[in-house]
Amino acid sequence: MHPFRTNTIRFFKLLMILFTSRITMHTSDSDVSSSLSTLSLEGQFSFHDMSHAAKDFGNRFQLLPSAVLQPKSVSDISTTIKHVYQMGARSQLTVAAQGHRHSLQGQAQAPGGVVIQMESFKGPGIQVQQGKLPYVDVAGGELWINLLKETLKYGLAPKSWTDYLHLTVGGTLSNAGISGQAFRHGPQISNVYQLEIVTGKGEVMTCSPAENADLFYGVLGGLGQFGIITRARIALEPAPKMVKWVRVLYSNFTTFTQDQEMLIAAENTFDYIEGFVVINRTGILNNWRSSFSPQDPVQASHFTSDGKTLFCLEMTMNFNPDETEIMNKEIYMLLSKLRYIPSTLFQSEVTYVEFLDRVHVSELKLRAKGLWEVPHPWLNLLIPRSKIHNFADGVFGNILRDSSNGPILLYPLNKSKWDNRTSVVIPDEEVFYLVAFLSSAPSSANHDTLESALKLNADILDFCKQADIGMKQYLPYYTKEEDWRTHFGSRWKVFAQRKLDYDPLAILAPGQRIFRKTTSISSQKLLQMV
Ligand SMILES: Cc1cc2nc3c(=O)[nH]c(=O)nc-3n(C[C@H](O)[C@H](O)[C@H](O)COP(=O)(O)OP(=O)(O)OC[C@H]3O[C@@H](n4cnc5c(N)ncnc54)[C@H](O)[C@@H]3O)c2cc1C
Ligand SMILES: *[C@@H]1O[C@H](CO)[C@@H](O)[C@H](O)[C@H]1NC(C)=O
Ligand SMILES: *[C@@H]1O[C@H](CO)[C@@H](O)[C@H](O)[C@H]1NC(C)=O
Ligand SMILES: *[C@@H]1O[C@H](CO)[C@@H](O)[C@H](O)[C@H]1NC(C)=O
Ligand SMILES: *[C@@H]1O[C@H](CO)[C@@H](O)[C@H](O)[C@H]1NC(C)=O
Repeated sequence: MHPFRTNTIRFFKLLMILFTSRITMHTSDSDVSSSLSTLSLEGQFSFHDMSHAAKDFGNRFQLLPSAVLQPKSVSDISTTIKHVYQMGARSQLTVAAQGHRHSLQGQAQAPGGVVIQMESFKGPGIQVQQGKLPYVDVAGGELWINLLKETLKYGLAPKSWTDYLHLTVGGTLSNAGISGQAFRHGPQISNVYQLEIVTGKGEVMTCSPAENADLFYGVLGGLGQFGIITRARIALEPAPKMVKWVRVLYSNFTTFTQDQEMLIAAENTFDYIEGFVVINRTGILNNWRSSFSPQDPVQASHFTSDGKTLFCLEMTMNFNPDETEIMNKEIYMLLSKLRYIPSTLFQSEVTYVEFLDRVHVSELKLRAKGLWEVPHPWLNLLIPRSKIHNFADGVFGNILRDSSNGPILLYPLNKSKWDNRTSVVIPDEEVFYLVAFLSSAPSSANHDTLESALKLNADILDFCKQADIGMKQYLPYYTKEEDWRTHFGSRWKVFAQRKLDYDPLAILAPGQRIFRKTTSISSQKLLQMV
């Protein structure tokens, strides 16, 4: 049998064992549908054809819910959660908010539970507030791309992004939201003024740094554990019309990272700074993530790293058409301080939207080839700066002999832009690197790409442990409580306490596999864990 299916079935069996062995007073499927159907809602439940709710971008885990809610109001969400909360220990029902299902390992799924499709709830829509401190109010299930299109009508845009915009506001704020602007503005969770939350008890709460602050910070980076984000207030800034998009190559990792760190620390610098690693590839500048230039700089696609490892520094500078001259001068100044391989400067000019929505162009191309809906065994790591050279030595060209499975991102971030009251976990050092292995594993006739990609991931994680890298996972995936405790370290206490405060029955986001919904007896166990 195909190993991907074997894995899924094995996993499913494991879940069955877990559920049947732990739960004695469980309700049956028909009980679930009849009890939920009695709720008076503006939106509706569906109990049939729920296979889409059991899919995600990772394409590896498929766990069917018992019901899917398409909410039309905050009160639909609150009523549903209250109902499940009040069933208490009699029911094993859980609830997962589901954004655009771009999770990697079933994090937005609810096996046997209720999935709430956040995209069908728009609330009062996207509302832009202009003025000195402009912001936008938006539903948790809204896609960032829609948000951008609306705020641009006012000449405004959010400050901090992800590389891909077809993700929901609630989905990225539950993780962090990291891209090339984070060195300056912090991750997306550093750019939120206020949230509206439905907690695991079904209460609707408004929170901000000034009001219900513990819930506010808890939910940001909180992996969906404390409440469902129904609305968010996000900081805006004046939007540029255009960006200059620049790429240069290095063969020396030390010089590459020194230049990256110099750029993120500089006062006058680029607006976006990332980088990626290319191992033994041809056509390296046209990997899937980066249709670099619509104007097609022909040389770029012919550059090859055959046998070697190269490092590409990628930067942009925002500008408006009447500022082209100044912008070009500033770029010239900045580039003159960098030590890239002189013949490898690639530049293009695109609109701000074209730049921000760049990965979508690649998505459309891959979809056309049937290469989008394939397994994605991604691995995202945060590596402290003091260990980034050990990491690079151990991984690039050693564990990984080529980068043909997908892009490998690598760029530095500054801890001072992250708020330690939020739930996200980062390494304990002033500067740390995001290293993202974004593999695709289409099934292939002669060898199993998924199995080998998973093996490489395991080897990388193993290396981090052996070499004491002090790595933290981003979009973390663990299945054992002790691993979660290790992940959170000294912050576990606060995280578990927040769970008790806002979702004491562990109803929410079961797909993260941090807490397990249990009977009243075992919720005492949860108490003991704190
Ligand atoms: C192509 C691609 C590119 C990406 N690029 C980046 C990147 O550059 N930077 C980055 O930081 N991340 C990136 N990601 C990761 C992305 O941020 C996460 O996968 C995120 O979870 C996806 O959002 P979603 O809306 O699809 O959430 P889902 O997968 O639907 O949900 C994610 C988790 O959040 C919970 N959740 C969903 N909505 C809500 C809500 N409203 N309230 C509370 N909890 C909720 C779910 O229950 C689940 O546990 C990328 C992902 C893909 C597929
Ligand atoms: C890489 O650059 C560093 C710093 O400039 C230098 O010390 C080192 O010798 C270089 N390594 C190689 C292999 O050239
Ligand atoms: C990180 O931020 C701190 C505080 O703003 C600053 O002092 C430091 O120089 C920054 N470091 C880098 C490498 O950007
Ligand atoms: C680079 O890739 C080619 C073909 O994919 C392979 O034959 C060669 O051994 C690789 N080189 C190294 C150094 O891994
Ligand atoms: C967060 O950072 C501040 C300032 O650096 C520090 O005083 C505080 O103890 C930290 N809090 C936690 C929970 O780590």
